[in-house]
Amino acid sequence: MSQYDQQKWNKKFSEKSELLKPREASLYLQKLELKGEDKIALDLACGAGRHTLYLAQQGFKVFALDISKVALNAVDQRVEKEGLSAKVNTSYTDLDDFSPEIALYDIIVISNFLDTDLIKRACVGLKKEGLFFVETYMDDPSNEKKDSNPDFLLQKGELKTLFTKEIASCFDENYEIVLYDEFDNEPYEMYKMKKQVIVVRKL
Ligand SMILES: C[S@@+](CC[C@H](N)C(=O)[O-])C[C@H]1O[C@@H](n2cnc3c(N)ncnc32)[C@H](O)[C@@H]1O
Repeated sequence: MSQYDQQKWNKKFSEKSELLKPREASLYLQKLELKGEDKIALDLACGAGRHTLYLAQQGFKVFALDISKVALNAVDQRVEKEGLSAKVNTSYTDLDDFSPEIALYDIIVISNFLDTDLIKRACVGLKKEGLFFVETYMDDPSNEKKDSNPDFLLQKGELKTLFTKEIASCFDENYEIVLYDEFDNEPYEMYKMKKQVIVVRKL
């Protein structure tokens, strides 16, 4: 599966160079008005690094993981161009086998990548007061892209149910949902799609 993911994503990023162009970070991440001095972030499936760059610009030390070397090279180049090399550490990683170091991170970001098992494994990586940010596509009749793989689409309310029913124990039941929303994706995306976002703080 991961060998397949690696080939699929390297091909996608190589053939569609627009996917490697700088893009704005999620508006929901921006709304959090994060201050990252002396803090550590983990960007899982970072792709071309829009959240890695944004978090580094806010002062975080960012660990950015992805299975596509094409995407990671693009992140390295942008990071260097923006003088943020000291703030960013990219790493070629298969997230199918990944578990983070325990209680190391102030924020963990997973966006446009759906793997609920990864979310369950990653929750241990958060420090107290740390934030878990997850945002990705969901199933909806209004979606313009009709051939999306249903395995990669959330069902209505799924992230809220996942965090309250399955991840809560990972936080010893001490957590708060900072925000939850179901919304239309950004206008620059190729297809109009519904998305879901959740931000959970470990208390
Ligand atoms: C749609 S992109 C999301 C990029 C970024 N998070 C964003 O929101 O712009 C999905 C990313 O998941 C990565 N990916 C897919 N399968 C993976 C795996 N098994 N391990 C690590 N990364 C993977 C791809 O290489 C790709 O960069």
